[in-house]
Amino acid sequence: MSEGKASEAEASADEAKARPPSQGGRSKFVEEGQGVREAPADHEGVDGLVCPITGQPIVIRYAGVYKSFGDFKVLRGLDLCIPKGKITAIIGRSGTGKSVTIKHIMGLLRPDEGRIWVGDEELTAMSDRKLRTVRNRFGVVFQNAALFDSMNVFDNVAFPLVEHTRLGRREITTKVQQLLAQVGLAGSDSKTPSELSGGMRKRVGLARALVRDPDYILYDEPTTGLDPILAAAMDQLIVDTQESRPDITSVVISHDMPAVLRTAHKICMLVDGVVLHQGPPSYFKDSDDPLVRQFVAGSLEGPMTV
Ligand SMILES: Nc1ncnc2c1ncn2[C@@H]1O[C@H](COP(=O)(O)OP(=O)(O)O)[C@@H](O)[C@H]1O
Ligand SMILES: [Mg+2]
Repeated sequence: MSEGKASEAEASADEAKARPPSQGGRSKFVEEGQGVREAPADHEGVDGLVCPITGQPIVIRYAGVYKSFGDFKVLRGLDLCIPKGKITAIIGRSGTGKSVTIKHIMGLLRPDEGRIWVGDEELTAMSDRKLRTVRNRFGVVFQNAALFDSMNVFDNVAFPLVEHTRLGRREITTKVQQLLAQVGLAGSDSKTPSELSGGMRKRVGLARALVRDPDYILYDEPTTGLDPILAAAMDQLIVDTQESRPDITSVVISHDMPAVLRTAHKICMLVDGVVLHQGPPSYFKDSDDPLVRQFVAGSLEGPMTV
């Protein structure tokens, strides 16, 4: 780690608290409910950090992350902690940087400034080659499912195993069929993506994301484009996936507030490139903050304009 970065991180917790939210990324929940920051400004990595919202150890941490595209500042000093073995939702309006945020933990984007840790490793200090090995520990369910149209369901799910492991055909078949059954698609092996509904495509995407037993699973807008029934089924599948794999850490990006309130253990609301509010679902349900209320209600009335 460079000395410059160390001194940057040495701003005291009090100083950080004195900054307005739009610059500091402090959390209303932590400030009002707990009186502690999740991570003191001078704390290195994730070791010893416990999420005050879930009581779980922190496994992924962003500290003061900035990211711009040209003149457009997307992340503006993002501080974000993800607890192990729970579902964390990142919510916010379209274009606020939710996808950009998760692309950083997968190593698909590098921050302009700030630091990111996954487990005991600092992503921001890694070579591209090392980053690729960390990426292997993530399963991702992309917004559009991102299936290969020319391959059937079986081959889509098997693809990561065929590409990246030395497993034999029999082991691969067992694993793929097990996962297809878990996501409710037993018997659909030979269908092509074009024969599937949107909900089924997302399920195939989930089976593929799980096929290499990842430590972390990231869902980017898993229910966008689904009808309410299929969306509810997908939400249930996210919960079931988490509950059947207690060690897996789930991060769900969404602007579907009712779904997030039903499924997430911790909710982080991204506004102007920082986490402005975070807490358990009850914090968001009970909040009298006009911005939170407007977002939860999906209302045109309030501080956010169209
Ligand atoms: N690779 C990129 N190059 C330029 N602009 C980008 C890139 N990725 C994202 N952006 C911009 O950053 C902003 C945040 O994007 P994104 O994270 O995808 O938003 P969302 O919260 O809807 O997921 C958007 O305005 C988007 O246009
Ligand atoms: Mg997005």
